[in-house]
This record gives sequence, structure tokens and C-alpha cells, in this order.
Amino acid sequence: PRLDENIKVVKIAIIGGSGLYNLEGLELVAEVNPDTPWGKPSDAITIAKTASGLYVAFLARHGRGHYLTPSEVPARANIAALKSLGVEVIIAYSAVGSLREELKPRDFVLPSQIIDRTKGIRHSTFFEEGLVAHAMFADPFSAVLEKRGVIEGGDFHRQKTLICMEGPQFSTRAESHMYRSFGADLINMSVLPEAKLAREAEIAYQMICMSTDYDCWKEHEVAVTVEAVVANLKANSDNAQRLLAAILPGLEQVVKNGQALEGLKGSMRFACMTAPE
Ligand code: ADE
Repeated sequence: PRLDENIKVVKIAIIGGSGLYNLEGLELVAEVNPDTPWGKPSDAITIAKTASGLYVAFLARHGRGHYLTPSEVPARANIAALKSLGVEVIIAYSAVGSLREELKPRDFVLPSQIIDRTKGIRHSTFFEEGLVAHAMFADPFSAVLEKRGVIEGGDFHRQKTLICMEGPQFSTRAESHMYRSFGADLINMSVLPEAKLAREAEIAYQMICMSTDYDCWKEHEVAVTVEAVVANLKANSDNAQRLLAAILPGLEQVVKNGQALEGLKGSMRFACMTAPE
């Protein structure tokens, strides 16, 4: 169906990573495929209705058939499309490799910091070609969800540093050890530029990482393979859906109370360097 006339705004969005290609347990009410100045998003965006009557958008980052590499994901179109629906908060899922013994495969982790090891080939800003802005990014994830207790109590590891590499090949052992020496706890290929663009779009953003492997730093452990990643994702998909169901009511409360954009709304006005007309 097309976007229903009655759906004026969709304030909550979920971006599904590898292994999470739809929302379960919610009533699907529409599917939209908005065009943006940066092209089409990764796939059509499905819109579901929660029990309390709020709308939630779902977008599969790599497309529902997983046909986009992390470097090919049209992140600007994805964020712009969600913004055009009225989205204020994004929960983004991602499969990650663990760089720490205590972050076991199938554990869920909330990262608080990011190290950028992408190669500069991804479009990572909305501000260019004559309009220059430098968004604050010291704390790359939204503080609101933590502060408002939305992700309180869940069975998460917290305060971890996520390194984002270009891929699509996995790391060498030397790189994996180097990332550990950097202080990184987790590795993926997807948090950037998504998190940067959400910040520029003044959308609250939090990633939920699902650990699928120990990358290749660990002695006596086979190096990461797609087979291992997919097997752990499949085994964990019920948990991922359950976790989403657990945080959704808190998320709804935050948007209903108008708190999602605390500290974010209007922030880009002060980030612009370009002289006004
Ligand atoms: N995604 C899942 N596991 C990964 C790994 N080991 N490296 C990079 N991205 C990943």
C-alpha cells in the first residue's frame, strides 16, 4: 500500500542490518519508496503501527535481499528519506565482530564511541558544494535514550568503542591486533557514515550491535567467516526482535514527551561556516 493519508509523521525508525530484514509482531500499514535529492534509499521503507498507535518505519540497510555492500549503501538517501517521514529517533542494528574476550558471540552491545577506518570513499555529509558545516560528533550516539531509561536494564554491554572499517573483505590478523591496541572493542562496516548523517539531520541515533564472531585476533579460534556470522545472526534473530519489542514502549514515551531531540534540535544552525546569503 501507499503511505496512508492518515499517517502524517513517523517519528521512530529502525534500520535493520545483516540478518534483520523486517519487523515482527507489528501491524504493517504501508510501504513507501521516497525519492530524495540523494537518490532512492536501500529499499522500500515499511511502516508499522504499534499497539499504542504510533508509527514505526523499518529500512533494511543492505536491501531486503542483501544486495548492497557496506560501501554501496546509499546512506544519505536513507537518512534523508527517514527525515522526510518525520523521523526523530533511529535505532540501527548491526552485526559486529568482537575484539574483546568478554563480548561473546550473540551478545548485544551498545557502543558509545566510534573510530573511523573507512577509506573516504563514502559520501559522509549533506553539507558540501558551497554550504559548509561542521557538526559536533564528540559523542556520536544520542544521550537521550540512556538518560530517559529507554535502554536501561536490558542485557547489554555498554560504553564500548566501535571501529568502522571499509571492507567488504574482513581484516587481517595484524589489523585486528592493531584495532585492539587502538582501544576498539567491536568492529563493523556500517556505523559510518550513517551515524554522522543522522547527526547532521538532527535525528537521535543509537546503534545496537549484535556480536557474531571474534574477528581474527584470537589464538586457537578460527578467523571470521560469513558462515559463522550468518549462523549466529540466525540463532539470534528472535532475541533481536524481542529486544526491540522491549525497548519500543520506552521509545514511544520519549517521542510522545517530545524528548527525542533534546540537545539536537537546531544544533546544525550553529555548525554552519558558510556566510548567510
Ligand atoms: N561484521 C560482523 N563481523 C565482522 C568483523 N569481524 N569485521 C567487520 N565487520 C563485521
